Parts: sequence; C-alpha cells; structure tokens
Amino acid sequence: MRRIERIRSIGRGITALAALGAATFITEAGAANAPPPLLSLTGLYAAGVPLRVSPEVAAFSPQYPLWSDGAGKSRWIYLPPGSTIDGSDIDSWDFPVGTRLWKEFAWAGRKVETRFLWRATREEWVFATYLWNDDQSDASLAPDEGIRDYVEIAPGRRHSIPGTLDCRTCHEGVRSRVLGFTALQLSPDRDPLAPHAETPAPGMVNLNDLIERGALVPPRPDLIASPPRILASTPRGRAALGYLSANCGGCHNTEGSLESLEFVLRQPAEGGRIGADPASRTAIGRISRYFVPAALPGRTLRIAPGSPEHSSILYRMSSRRPSSQMPPLGSAMVDQEAVALLRGWIAEDLRP
Ligand code: HEC
Ligand code: HEC
Repeated sequence: MRRIERIRSIGRGITALAALGAATFITEAGAANAPPPLLSLTGLYAAGVPLRVSPEVAAFSPQYPLWSDGAGKSRWIYLPPGSTIDGSDIDSWDFPVGTRLWKEFAWAGRKVETRFLWRATREEWVFATYLWNDDQSDASLAPDEGIRDYVEIAPGRRHSIPGTLDCRTCHEGVRSRVLGFTALQLSPDRDPLAPHAETPAPGMVNLNDLIERGALVPPRPDLIASPPRILASTPRGRAALGYLSANCGGCHNTEGSLESLEFVLRQPAEGGRIGADPASRTAIGRISRYFVPAALPGRTLRIAPGSPEHSSILYRMSSRRPSSQMPPLGSAMVDQEAVALLRGWIAEDLRP
C-alpha cells in the first residue's frame, strides 16, 4: 500500500504537511477536500495493518442510537493531536478542523457501508460513504447520489445507500454537524432502557475521558460529578424522550430549518425540571399539523396523553409510506421496539 502523509489542498495552491502518525490519509489528487477513493485511505486504519483501527482513532457508542433497520454499527472519531472541542455551547460542540468520524453498518455480520464525516476546513464538512467489497478487505467511495435498494437486509426489504444530500438533510439540521458525539450521548450515566443501545466496550471514549484529557474547553469538571441525564417522571419516559431526541431531534430542534414548527424533540444535556424539557413542552398535548386518520380533523395531538392512536408522533414512527414516515429517510422498516416503548409511555405513564 502506498503511504502518503500529505494532504493536498490544490484549491488553495498549498500543500499542507499533516502529521498523521501511523494512519494513512490521502485525498484524490487534484481535488480540494475530496474524500479519498478508498476507506483505507481515510485514516481509520493503521498503516500497513489492514483493518486494524489506528491507535489515534477512538471508538465511541452513543447511548441513544439512530434506528437503521437493525444494522450493527461501529463508530470512531479522530481529533487532531493537541486540538480541543469548543464546548462553550454544551449542546452544540464546535469540532476542530481536521476532525474525522466514521460509522460502519453491518447486517448479519457483513459490513455493507462505512460513512465518513470530515471537517476539512472551518467552513466545509465533507460527507461520503464507502461500500465494502465482496471479500470485506476494503471499501470504495460510493457515488454522490447514493444507490437505491442496494442490498437485501430482510425478506423483501432492501437497504439504500444515502446520497450526500441525504447526509446533509440529517446532519445539517444542527450547527455542530455531528449528531451522536455529544455531551448527552456520551454521558456515562447511560439509560438502561434505551432501544438498541449497546454496552460500551472497554476503551470506548465517553464524556469523562474527554473532560479528563482536557479535550473539551472550557473545562467542565462539574459534568463528571453530575453527568448529563434526561429528567422524566418514569424510566420509560426517560428512554422515550432520549429516543425522540436522537432519532428525531436532528431535524426537530431550534437550530435547523424546521425551527418554525415549534416542535423540539432534541434534549439538552443539562438543566431543567421534569416535564419542562423541550419535547414535553412542545409535543405533549400540542395540536399537530399532521392529522392521523383515527382522529377528528383538527384534533390530532403530537402526543395525546393516554391515547397512542391519536398521537401523530407514534403514527408517523409506525409508518413507512413515503408521505407519512418519520424520520422521512434513512430506514425501510419500522422500529417495533421503539414503537412499543412509546406506545406504553403514552398509554400508561402519560394517562391523564
Ligand atoms: C436519517 C438521518 C441520517 C442520515 C440520512 C445520515 N445520518 Fe449520519 N447520523 C445520524 C444520526 C442521528 C447519528 C447519530 C446516532 C447514531 O450514530 O446512531 C449519525 C451518526 C453519523 C456518524 C458518526 C458521527 C456523528 O455524527 O455522530 C457519521 C460519521 C455519519 N453519521 C455520517 C453520515 C454520512 C456520511 C451520511 C450520508 C452518506 C449520513 N451520515 C446519513 C443521522 C443520519
Ligand atoms: C430529516 C429530518 C427529519 C427527521 C429526522 C424527523 N423529521 Fe419529522 N418532520 C420533518 C419535516 C420536514 C416535517 C414537516 C413536513 C411533514 O409534515 O412531512 C416533519 C413533521 C413531523 C410531524 C408533524 C409536525 C406537526 O406540526 O405536528 C411529526 C409528528 C413528526 N415530524 C414526527 C417525527 C418523529 C417522531 C421523528 C423521529 C422518529 C421525526 N419526525 C424525525 C423532518 C424530519
């Protein structure tokens, strides 16, 4: 394998030397900030050791994962040596230029795609995904427009490779661009009822590690003593709010283009009282613009306490018709475990 430790930034006519240590990172010659043609050239793996994750790259596991049709996922981050994350806004981290993140998707033990997010300059985040070859030895850059119905993942269900516009539809709903590497998601006070969550493997980076290593500025030692946690009146409520935050809050928040809906499912890392969080205030008992068939016109609530069948959130989560499904992209199958969790919470815990 060629080992080139230079990133070419031809667009600006300069060639920057990047000390990437063991990891190999090379962009396509001639293109400024283009994603490399192979996953093995993105710096995820140690040079010369195929598929061994580079020692400079850290694995992590968000406590509330995104539902992706039951995919097995692995995630990693690379922060340039000596760099820090600006956490002045604890809910919207500003990552240093050079940050790279990866997310691998596998079904039945076979790797299908690995997504790549790279802050190439202050202004530019690069989005790309790589498709694994048959012998699972490397993955090559997918076309920009993605590939519909790429591979069968369950009888009659196929996984589509998102195009870069799809990546942006979800990730550009937040200023930070990063959705799963946040204070709340990395809290060591993990939610035991979070659907599809995994127990972090030894060595995975969490919020305490970042604070202890000084990677988060300003320093927040107080968050070690009281780690971020969603406040709710029942354990099921905590998990339901966390699920909505991760799976829906990337778009339904106050930062992106849907701000005017006043429908905020993204949970903050700290502060607040039970029942005063954004989702409880903007969804529970609030009129929905979207009508579910079971309800009288104008009488659909986003979350109707005690009545799952009149709650537009649950109706849209349970649908995979393009006109009604939520999230509107990124999965082909309903998340039955999450639907059951939300149904129980709305029917029983919220019953007036
Ligand atoms: C349906 C919305 C959606 C789409 C489409 C999407 N992502 Fe994500 N992505 C998320 C969410 C939510 C997370 C965090 C939760 C998780 O990882 O389970 C995430 C996590 C990631 C991560 C790990 C870093 C982070 O932000 O937490 C990377 C890398 C990533 N996505 C890249 C991509 C790329 C590249 C594409 C397009 C090829 C893409 N994503 C498409 C929603 C989406
Ligand atoms: C990729 C962005 C995106 C994600 C992620 C997303 N939504 Fe939406 N959502 C939209 C858009 C755009 C609209 C407005 C258009 C429409 O109603 O289809 C909307 C509208 C809605 C509405 C109607 C709003 C109203 O005024 O009552 C509900 C309910 C809803 N979404 C629920 C959800 C739920 C639940 C999730 C997560 C399981 C989710 N959404 C995830 C983009 C998103």
